[in-house]
Amino acid sequence: MLHATGVCKKFGVKPVVDKVDFSVARGECLGVIGPNGAGKTTLFNILDGTISMDAGTVRLGDADISHLAQHQRARLGLGRAYQVPRTFSALSVFENVLAGVFHGARISGAAAEIEARRILEIVGLADRRNAPAGALPLLDRKRLELAKAMSVGSKVVLLDEIAGGLTEEEVTLIVEIVRTLKQDRAVIWIEHIAHALMAVADRLLVLNFGSKLADGDPATVMGSKLVQEIYLGISVDDAA
Ligand SMILES: Nc1ncnc2c1ncn2[C@@H]1O[C@H](COP(=O)(O)OP(=O)(O)OP(=O)(O)O)[C@@H](O)[C@H]1O
Ligand SMILES: [Mg+2]
Repeated sequence: MLHATGVCKKFGVKPVVDKVDFSVARGECLGVIGPNGAGKTTLFNILDGTISMDAGTVRLGDADISHLAQHQRARLGLGRAYQVPRTFSALSVFENVLAGVFHGARISGAAAEIEARRILEIVGLADRRNAPAGALPLLDRKRLELAKAMSVGSKVVLLDEIAGGLTEEEVTLIVEIVRTLKQDRAVIWIEHIAHALMAVADRLLVLNFGSKLADGDPATVMGSKLVQEIYLGISVDDAA
């Protein structure tokens, strides 16, 4: 569903994303891990067109979206949940989702309202639909972020640390929503909470200083010496 090839980005002389390749299929969740500053959010900024890349190609299904504007990518089915939730805080929860359904999925009238209600049911926000988005507690802000990512009619959703700052019980709720999302979409989920990713990811991609270190089965990747040394900061000699 989404294919990235040879993606490169430098800020000044510093490579932040360096020749990264990956693919993710419908029904699949690709987890992305890596230390702070590894380039994970920058990769999402490239995929959704927030920033341009220096080299590489991004395809969404059969379409080359490498040079499309952000709103064009959204209309082709690329949704995103931001690391720091971005809502229209003065609008209601329902209106926030409706905006994505109308401008992204391009559904209008009664059908748009039905679609927005359906999405709010999936993320567990149906009973808060009239609340102002700016007044929501953290879990509900994360749920709304997920709803917005779905609202554009997404075939692919990019989730950036949507479980960050939540309690264990709340993380479990988010994992269940992601499981539902991936049934008919491709999901890419950046997350530092390893057990949340392990519960739902089909593959893990590891970034370090912008380079891809590994892409494979989650248990194998998490158990590898490379990840323990570089991502978890444990020297294999010390661990031994
Ligand atoms: N617009 C920018 N201009 C210059 N440098 C930037 C810019 N955006 C990000 N960086 C730098 O690029 C590097 C990667 O940042 P990025 O936000 O992608 O990391 P990350 O892997 O998402 O980290 P975290 O886990 O903390 O969210 C960092 O060194 C950051 O300071
Ligand atoms: Mg980040």
